[in-house]
Amino acid sequence: MLVGKSDIIKLPFEVVLPYNSTMKSLRPVILILLCVILSVTLAYAQSAKTTPFHPTTAVSGKVLYGQYCAVCHGIDGKGSGPAAVALKQRPTDLTQLNHQNGGLFPEEHFMKMMNGELSTAAHGSANMPIWGSDFRKTASNPNLAQDRIYSLMNYIEGMQTK
Ligand code: HEC
Repeated sequence: MLVGKSDIIKLPFEVVLPYNSTMKSLRPVILILLCVILSVTLAYAQSAKTTPFHPTTAVSGKVLYGQYCAVCHGIDGKGSGPAAVALKQRPTDLTQLNHQNGGLFPEEHFMKMMNGELSTAAHGSANMPIWGSDFRKTASNPNLAQDRIYSLMNYIEGMQTK
């Protein structure tokens, strides 16, 4: 059976909209609130969009090692990474640093080397870049660069043969 148009529109009860005088006086407040919520959301979305994702923010020693050192020193640290053959000087076997230093990890030497404070010709040459300054150039702040050097050092310290 077909129903006429008027039958659909006519409701068998009275619809009371939840809109009385108090609601009316609250209208500007609600509007302002909506505007605030909207602008905060927009600002948030905007900042998320414009904050650049920096691929070098990793502080994990393992990740950093894989990214910056393994190509020459090898994943296992023994000095036979894929780029090693192209170098005039063989990359140091990083698993033997303790042995070469009387059983102790040469922390100070490592830090100096990373920061380019050793004047040996080999360090800071094309063969072995000064990573500390590279890290500082790419880090958003100096602490991050230092954190990276420390976690790299811890990682390499963990590589030492017993
Ligand atoms: C382009 C190749 C290359 C890369 C990449 C590289 N190294 Fe080296 N590294 C060398 C060579 C070659 C030597 C040996 C010559 C020298 O001592 O400078 C060396 C030596 C070292 C030494 C021993 C220094 C000493 O005084 O005995 C350490 C420690 C070291 N590298 C750590 C690192 C760390 C940490 C990274 C990554 C952040 C890294 N290297 C990345 C090539 C490289």
